[in-house]
Amino acid sequence: MNTDLLMKRKQDLYALLKSQHEAEMNEMNHYMSVLSSMNNVVIKNYIHKLLDDGLRHIEYISSMMTAIEGASSSLNLTKQGTINSINEEKQSKDLLLKCVSLADDIETKSLLKSIIVDEEHHIKILEHIEELVSTYPES
Ligand SMILES: [Fe+2]
Repeated sequence: MNTDLLMKRKQDLYALLKSQHEAEMNEMNHYMSVLSSMNNVVIKNYIHKLLDDGLRHIEYISSMMTAIEGASSSLNLTKQGTINSINEEKQSKDLLLKCVSLADDIETKSLLKSIIVDEEHHIKILEHIEELVSTYPES
């Protein structure tokens, strides 16, 4: 095959992967939004399974897209990206703390506090990732 044709095939593949990436994101959004209204444990488990698979598919498709783009993907894990994520997690935590102070029933308060504990853990995980990313050789 000549170079132009190979290039065209790559571009077409990239465009389709991009559409599929978007489709998987939309599906996941939909599954997440119906999850809270589900009371049936079996259906809930199935939806969790669909979400798990969707996340894995998005990961695979993203790697394929990065491979086509070349190494210089802006979506790489960078120190600055990790610092931004830490700030986002901290903002989530602050927002949830405000929710706790406005919530009047005990169950809502308790669930919100459990999410805050998770967010604090996410911050610690990201701080460790930041440490690990800092030790990468500059590319
Ligand atoms: Fe989080």
